[in-house]
Amino acid sequence: MTTVRLAIVGLGRLGRRHAANLQQTHGAQLLAACSPVAEERDWAATALPGVSLYADYAEVLANPDVDAVFLVTPTSLHAEQIIAALKAGKHVFCEKPLALNVEDCLAVEAEAARHPQLKVMIGFVRRFDASYRDAAAKLAAGSVGRPYLLRSQTCDRNDESGFFVRFSASSGGIFMDCSIHDIDLARWLLGNPTPKRVWATGTNALHPALAEHQDVDNGVAMCEFEGGQLACFYASRTQAHGHETLTEIFASEGRLSVGANPRANRVEISDAHGVRNECVQDFYQRFAEAFVTEAQVFVDTIRDNRPSPVTLADAREATRIGLAITQAFRSGEAVTL
Ligand code: NAI
Repeated sequence: MTTVRLAIVGLGRLGRRHAANLQQTHGAQLLAACSPVAEERDWAATALPGVSLYADYAEVLANPDVDAVFLVTPTSLHAEQIIAALKAGKHVFCEKPLALNVEDCLAVEAEAARHPQLKVMIGFVRRFDASYRDAAAKLAAGSVGRPYLLRSQTCDRNDESGFFVRFSASSGGIFMDCSIHDIDLARWLLGNPTPKRVWATGTNALHPALAEHQDVDNGVAMCEFEGGQLACFYASRTQAHGHETLTEIFASEGRLSVGANPRANRVEISDAHGVRNECVQDFYQRFAEAFVTEAQVFVDTIRDNRPSPVTLADAREATRIGLAITQAFRSGEAVTL
């Protein structure tokens, strides 16, 4: 296939970014965009000239010119939308997490197995970030020895509008929404260990309304793997300074750390307050280049008929660990996997 003809589905916070990237992706043509919300289609009519607009996902799937769908829809819809796309003969990119329960993940895997010619890739964007890729290569080369502990956090700047409170209704909560990235990193960077036991707790520091969804704005979790490796996760919605994704990997001959200072650029300000730098403000600013790379990799995977670099089994395992952590948080008990 020389050009992959794509439909973007979901034109919200992240979908609009992906749509813009897909217009620049080599070997791709953004053919269609879909949202049930009229205002979002109005946005697309101006921002995505020449792209056909749909209110109904089923009509996108019925279009024989669409080769692949790019799903940036609420997490609670991912599994059913992936399955419908596969049945319609489309390749699928879908944002993380794959699903909010393991049964849905298995149903997607079973459907994908019936269509081995179709690619399915889940958007664990950090796997496409240059710094994380460098850390993974260094670990694979053994340059810091044997990794035994990963400590990773996803911390968002506080959003006083309360967006996260509304979002919590469909996101699966802070561990499924934020820590899922760190969980995937732990599996990737520690060499796909098997999870054994998890613990978790959390607090509502600034957004008590999250309690209605059994959710928190700051959550902490630990995961013990077979063989003794450990992971510690921290997720937050309440940082004052900006977005801070930080991962440290402790190994037998050294430590790698990615994102220890969430600097916006290389400018350093020295004045009466001290020496400091400005910080990235949100996840998109931090991972903008990785999102571009991710889209290109998805399109190349289809064009070159290569295996998807993020498998459905990886995504299912992240969901399984994220769910166990959520259960541990809600029950107050350690959960054995
Ligand atoms: P959002 O709520 O801003 O956007 C969701 C979009 O889906 C809206 O355009 C909505 O109209 C559309 N939609 C709802 N029902 C639909 C249907 N039946 N058919 C077609 N479109 C439908 O949400 P946001 O923040 O853009 O998140 C979307 C997904 O992206 C979530 O799964 C989230 O976990 C993921 N995400 C991933 C990030 C990453 O770092 N990789 C960061 C932010 C979000």
